[in-house]
Order: sequence, then C-alpha cells, then structure tokens
Amino acid sequence: MEKKAETKILCFANNKGGSGKSTACANLGYELAAMGRRVLLVDGDMQLNLSLSFFDEETVLAMAGSGKTLYEAVRSRADLSGYAVQTPYPGLELIPSTTLMSQIELELFMMTQRELVLKKCLRSVKESGEYDYILIDAPPTLGMWVTNIICASGHVIIPVEPSPWGLFGLANMFEFLDSLEDISDAEVLGILISRLDERKSYGRQTREILTGREGIPVFESVIHVDASVGWSQDAAKPIREYKKRARSAEEFRKLAQEVERKWQ
Ligand SMILES: Nc1ncnc2c1ncn2[C@@H]1O[C@H](COP(=O)(O)OP(=O)(O)OP(=O)(O)O)[C@@H](O)[C@H]1O
Ligand SMILES: [Mg+2]
Repeated sequence: MEKKAETKILCFANNKGGSGKSTACANLGYELAAMGRRVLLVDGDMQLNLSLSFFDEETVLAMAGSGKTLYEAVRSRADLSGYAVQTPYPGLELIPSTTLMSQIELELFMMTQRELVLKKCLRSVKESGEYDYILIDAPPTLGMWVTNIICASGHVIIPVEPSPWGLFGLANMFEFLDSLEDISDAEVLGILISRLDERKSYGRQTREILTGREGIPVFESVIHVDASVGWSQDAAKPIREYKKRARSAEEFRKLAQEVERKWQ
C-alpha cells in the first residue's frame, strides 16, 4: 500500500487584527487544493470569516448551529474526525466555527493540560493521513485558545500588514511565541507581507526592514492590495473563483508553490 505523506499543520496567527490571516488561510488552502493537495481548513475564530469565505451567511449560521463545530469538539475534548464539511471545491474541506467560540477561553480555563486540548482533538485526523495540509485560522488574540492553536501546529504563518502598528504587533507576536517554547514545537514558516501598497513608502520600508532581519523567514511571495479580495469575500468565494486572473489570486498561487517547496 502506498505510504501517505505526513499531514502538515499550519496556523495563521497575528494578534494584530485585520492583518490578512483569514484571507490568506482561505486562499492558500484553495490554491493548495487546486494543485491537487488534500486540505482541511479549521475555522478557529468566532468571527466565522474563514467559513464565510466559502459559504453564504445562511449556510454558515446553519453549520454553526449544527452542534458539530470546533467549539463543541474542544469543549467536550472530542475527536474532530467526522466534523469536516465539504466546500464547493474538490480536495477542500472545512471544520466550521460558531460565535459561541467567544466562550472558549473560559471553557479551557477549567480544563487540565489546557494548552494541548486542540492538539489532542486533531490527533486522529492527523494520524489518518487523510489530508496533506490542515490550515487553522486563529483569532486576533494571544490567550489560551491561540496557545492551543500554536501547540497543535507544526508551523506558523504570520501575515503582516505594512504599517507602523503592524510592525509593533509583530514584536508582541514573537514574544508570545518565545513564551511557548517549552510547550510547543511550532516554527515560524514565514512572515507573509499582506495588503502591500507599493505606492506607499511605508510598504517598501517594511519589506526592507523585515527581509533584512536575520533568523526571521519572510516569504518571497507578497500579497498586494487588490479590490478583488473584498469582492470575492462578498461573493463568498476564493479570489480565483471570483476573478480568474486577479493579481492576488496569482500571488496566492505563488505562495502555495513556495509553501510546497519548503518540504522538498
Ligand atoms: N490583499 C488585500 N487587498 C485588499 N483588501 C484586503 C487584502 N487582504 C485582506 N483584505 C481586507 O482586509 C480586511 C482584513 O482581512 P482579514 O479578515 O483576512 O484579516 P484578519 O487578520 O483575518 O482579521 P482578524 O484579525 O479580524 O481575524 C478584510 O476586510 C479583507 O477583505
Ligand atoms: Mg480573521
């Protein structure tokens, strides 16, 4: 029997809100699946943005109310096998979220070994070898839940928006990752420069500052500001499904190829 490659678990984290985490998670997932990889997306945020990237509001709310969401699984420390729903795209599945996720910090607070709950919930899914990638979208916080997301991941992708406050947030993010050193093996796969506007000098400056820092991997691929991103989200579709040749869709394809090369 053919040996299945090991499932890679990647999360998208940055406590700076609006840095492009959900957009990157959805579109990298879509492009990896379009390249023939089997991808499971995990919506770890009560904002439900990852789910809304693929399904209309009514469907997302119905899934949230189904009782088979990430929140219910984590809360009861259940195995997440069987929680995934098929998106409209081949090779791309999703574990939905619910707005009840706002209570997850409180739920975790009362548990033992509380940092590793999500890791354990995902264990069978990972070991089944059913997926090449599991991509987890994190909320813009740095509490026990994001600790769980990082502990469950092998690698972290940090999307950063080039702005003074974006860079300030990055320092917090690295401090947080350092603080988890004893309980997590997750490595930073790369900083992803998102929403780059070449017309603004701060965009160029950020790129230079980040790529010039030793020991911090920065993806060669960058995602420029592109109006198609917002429109595609309005249509609940990945960018390429909304506009085939959109600049950002091409950039996410390049990012998917770059991610793949990391394991070659
Ligand atoms: N490349 C882009 N071009 C234009 N708009 C973008 C781009 N990337 C993201 N956006 C817009 O910026 C906003 C924030 O993006 P997104 O939701 O992906 O960030 P986030 O980090 O997940 O936010 P949060 O911290 O709230 O979870 C969204 O309205 C999205 O449409
Ligand atoms: Mg988000």
